[in-house]
Amino acid sequence: MASSRPILAFLIAVLACSAWSPRVEAIGPVGDAVRNVLGRFGRDKSDWFDLVLLENDGLKEGAVCLDGSPSGYWFRKGNQENKWLIFIEGGGWCYDERECLSRSRTFLGSSDAWPRDRPVDRPLFSADPKVNPTFYDWNIVNVGYCDGASFSGNVTDPVVVDGKKIYFRGARILDQVMRHVKEKQGLSGDVILSGCSAGGLTTILHADKVAAQLSDVTTSFRAMPFSGFFPITPNFQGDPWFRVRADNVYKMQRVEPSLNEACLADNADNAEQRCFEAEHAYRYIKTPIFLINSLYDAWTVQNIYNITSDTVPAKDVPKVVPFLNERSRLVFNLIRGAPNYNNVGNGDFLHSCMTHCGGCCTDEGWDKVSVKGETVRDAIGRWVEGGNGNNVRTDDACVYTNGPPYQCNPTCPPFPPI
Ligand SMILES: *[C@@H]1O[C@H](CO)[C@@H](O)[C@H](O)[C@H]1NC(C)=O
Ligand SMILES: *[C@@H]1O[C@H](CO)[C@@H](O)[C@H](O)[C@H]1NC(C)=O
Repeated sequence: MASSRPILAFLIAVLACSAWSPRVEAIGPVGDAVRNVLGRFGRDKSDWFDLVLLENDGLKEGAVCLDGSPSGYWFRKGNQENKWLIFIEGGGWCYDERECLSRSRTFLGSSDAWPRDRPVDRPLFSADPKVNPTFYDWNIVNVGYCDGASFSGNVTDPVVVDGKKIYFRGARILDQVMRHVKEKQGLSGDVILSGCSAGGLTTILHADKVAAQLSDVTTSFRAMPFSGFFPITPNFQGDPWFRVRADNVYKMQRVEPSLNEACLADNADNAEQRCFEAEHAYRYIKTPIFLINSLYDAWTVQNIYNITSDTVPAKDVPKVVPFLNERSRLVFNLIRGAPNYNNVGNGDFLHSCMTHCGGCCTDEGWDKVSVKGETVRDAIGRWVEGGNGNNVRTDDACVYTNGPPYQCNPTCPPFPPI
């Protein structure tokens, strides 16, 4: 049993801080106020995002957050007019009406507390070419997340919960954000749609739809989801609870009309909700896609597999690594087995570090973790520069050891010592 304790200690340490949206969550209103005051002195525009709220047409079209406040995005203009990175924020889902009501009072359900401007704080957005050789001078649109269901819901009437109205309008938000960016910011040229976690899933679910909406102004359109491939499997205890929760979100937010039509047609035997799952939606994507994911994703381990220090009794700890290894193979095979896997322009960076959103949003995940000698920063660079004909495959197929150091890639952030 001695060798089983570190993995539990690790799970406590890692999962405690594996929020879906690691950086934005850290920006509280008080911190913002201070930063905004200080930051205005001598600030370099390229290091800040400005908030754009969709107040006119957005409100008229009902593209609102859970609480009815306007949706929006943060924007940083780059030096290259024709290069656009659209990055969608994550932050989980709310699974029932009551949870959505609670969420409507937070920045994940309301724009009221969104900072009007904020520092560029992720390596993927950095304006420093040494940190971020690919995107440093691109226009960056960072879409706020406040609908609770990966920009997929569209319920016309507000839902009344405990006497308060809430709105399920994610599909309208995505539609209006893209329209606004096109018409008001002049988006054109090469566009990459990206996002992490719930935003990575949004990218997988809706890339083709956004591609169609922007097709009159784009010269190329590609997708680059981070940590958005969530396998919908039974948990460690054998309970298919996550599927139950996903199906509930699907019905509650009336998600179906926003999903991929070919997928819906193939699953028309009353299994349409599958098209709301990454593993099914992914198979239908026509947009060239570069998938960045852990095969041992920290959020998945905690929230889908239900493996935490509280939920695994000591006698079952030795089963954790074999379970994780089996699931990692499953995820790998789901990705490699997709019919579009070898499409021209598709690629991936699949690693085995137990992290979530590391690739976009932590310095370590960006340029320290490497797979086959290549960091995500460099793999993305190669994929972007290579144009649509370039298949970049950076797959890490290693499996965990049933004892320290557990992880099989020595460049991963280490499990903390006990
Ligand atoms: C949302 O639903 C309304 C009513 O059915 C429809 O008119 C509208 O086109 C839908 N919007 C999106 C973005 O799906
Ligand atoms: C997670 O595991 C705990 C402990 O085994 C269990 O009590 C709980 O019901 C599980 N959660 C779900 C949703 O299966």
